[in-house]
Amino acid sequence: MTNAASPYGTLPPAADMASRKPISLPRLNEMRARGEKITMITAYDATFAAVADAAGIECILVGDSLGMVCQGLHSTAGVSLETMRYHTESVVRGLRRVQGTAWVIGDLPFGTYQESPEQALRSAIVLMQAGAHMVKLEGGDWAPETAHFLVQRGIPVCGHLGLTPQTVHALGGYRVQGRDPESAAQLHQDAMALQDAGAAMLVLEMVPAALSTTLTQALPKCHTIGIGAGNGTAGQVLVLHDMLGINLGKNPKFVRNFMTGTDSVLSALQRYVAAVKDGSFPDNTLHAW
Ligand code: KIV
Repeated sequence: MTNAASPYGTLPPAADMASRKPISLPRLNEMRARGEKITMITAYDATFAAVADAAGIECILVGDSLGMVCQGLHSTAGVSLETMRYHTESVVRGLRRVQGTAWVIGDLPFGTYQESPEQALRSAIVLMQAGAHMVKLEGGDWAPETAHFLVQRGIPVCGHLGLTPQTVHALGGYRVQGRDPESAAQLHQDAMALQDAGAAMLVLEMVPAALSTTLTQALPKCHTIGIGAGNGTAGQVLVLHDMLGINLGKNPKFVRNFMTGTDSVLSALQRYVAAVKDGSFPDNTLHAW
């Protein structure tokens, strides 16, 4: 499957891709019902999106982490809606070129959705028109009202709780959330409110494994996707550059470098898919708290 001449690996022929069915919310629900883990990875451009799709990744998150990995920023707070639109379009074009099937999630950047549900709707429309299938927003408390407003207007929503990078300064740094009983109860309440609001997915970032497992059981209609949250979630997400070991900074403790021992991005992504599906990543003894 790999090709020494290309660090990306060799994509399957278009004929093989054409027989695959597009990922949709009903298909993700079916996977969850049969206990199959959902795989998600970030991608920001056409080529990596096509390779991730060929590796069998179900969901591609055009994350605002692109602020760090593509733009060299120190946090995600400086990413604009126009930048998110540009990268979402690039990912969607890449998928269309290879008849890809992945479900694409566009991240609403800081300052483009917190003001009012109407502001969130205007921003979400920009990402949906760029080709996203769903938008992601960070936050609890006030966020379910906004999620409900979008869902009612036909825009699928993914929530994001725990460590929310856009508000990292208010959280006191990149640290585990929901460790004490009060913050765990608040996280639980926010997660339930997001499900009630109609959010179909929920990223749980840097949350204790026991808490994210409990939340996953309490959220049958909202698929939990963990990142540094143990292996009890419905699926997993990683930042592409982290799992390829090409992060300019230090990798978070919960990341595994899937390039180690292989020679192509395609093969690293296939190993990630296999490890999430068979439950060997994340390993709670190594990658969780
Ligand atoms: O922007 C991003 O990459 C994210 C992931 C860390 C979930 O939100």
